[in-house]
Amino acid sequence: MGNLSLHSLEGSLMARRKKIYEGKAKILYEGPEAGTIVQYFKDDATAFNAEKKDVIDGKGVLNNRLSEYFMNGLNQIGVPTHFIRRLNMREQLVRSCEIVPLEVIVRNYAAGSMSKRLGIAEGTQLPRPIVEYCYKDDSLGDPLVTEEHIAAFGWASQQDMDDILSLALRVNDFMSGIMLAVGIRLVDFKIEIGRVFEGDYQRLIVADEISPDSCRLWDIESGQKLDKDVFRRDLGNLTDAYSEVARRLGVLPKSNVTKPTLIN
Ligand code: TMP
Ligand code: ASP
Repeated sequence: MGNLSLHSLEGSLMARRKKIYEGKAKILYEGPEAGTIVQYFKDDATAFNAEKKDVIDGKGVLNNRLSEYFMNGLNQIGVPTHFIRRLNMREQLVRSCEIVPLEVIVRNYAAGSMSKRLGIAEGTQLPRPIVEYCYKDDSLGDPLVTEEHIAAFGWASQQDMDDILSLALRVNDFMSGIMLAVGIRLVDFKIEIGRVFEGDYQRLIVADEISPDSCRLWDIESGQKLDKDVFRRDLGNLTDAYSEVARRLGVLPKSNVTKPTLIN
C-alpha cells in the first residue's frame, strides 16, 4: 500500500474514533476496549510553550516507533508503562490512566534550563542524577516545584513521590544504558507518570511518550545533538537527527534512510 492510501486509511479510522484530547504533539482517541486509549503522534513540533511552531514531515512516525521501542524495553525489565502495542505508523494502543500533573525530569549532565538557572556550563557531568519536578500547566509555563508544593497541593502523596522517584531513576538507568551502547549520551529527559486503578489498589506507571522530543541525546564522540534542541535552536534537520537515533537502535534499516521507513 502506498503512503497516500495508508494515510487516508489512517484518516478514516481516526474519523470514527472519539477524540478525547489534543495536545501539542499528540492526539488521544477513545480506545477499542474499556481502559484503553489510542495515542496518535502528530508531525507538529513546538518549543518555548508553543511560541515556536512547525510541522516536521515524518516526526510523528519516528516518535511513535521510538517510544514503542523504549516503552517495550521498560515493560520487559519490569518498569510498568502504559504501552500495550503499536497499531500503525502513527498510532499506539495504551492503557488509559490519570496523569499526575508533573513533568518529571532526570538530568545526568547540565543543559537547558538547569544550565541557565544555576550557571553551570552545558555538558558538565553532574555528581549524581538529579530529579526535578515541574507542575504541568502551560498557562504558567510548567514551573519548577518542590516536593513540598507537590505534597501540600495534593498533586501526589509521599508514597507516590517515593514510587515516582524510583521509576524515574530506573528509566534513567535503562535509557542511559541503551543509548551508551549506540554511542549516545543521555544528557537528560522528561517523563510523565500515570495512575491506574486495579481493584482497591492504585499503581503508578510511565505514561505519555519517551522520544527525542522529551530527551537530550548527544553523540558521545562529536557532541552532535540528536534531539529536539535541533528544532529549538535551529541546528539543522530534525527528522535526520531522529532517524539517526532510530537507525543506531535498529528501529530503522541500516541503509541511508532519508525518509522514515518501518521495518516489520
Ligand atoms: P529543560 O532543560 O528545558 O528544563 O528540559 C529538560 C528536559 O525535559 C529535556 O530533555 C527536554 C525535556 N522537556 C520536555 O520534554 N518538555 C518540555 O516542555 C520541556 C521544557 C523540556
Ligand atoms: N513541549 C514544550 C512546548 O511546546 C516545550 C519544549 O519541548 O521545549 O512548548
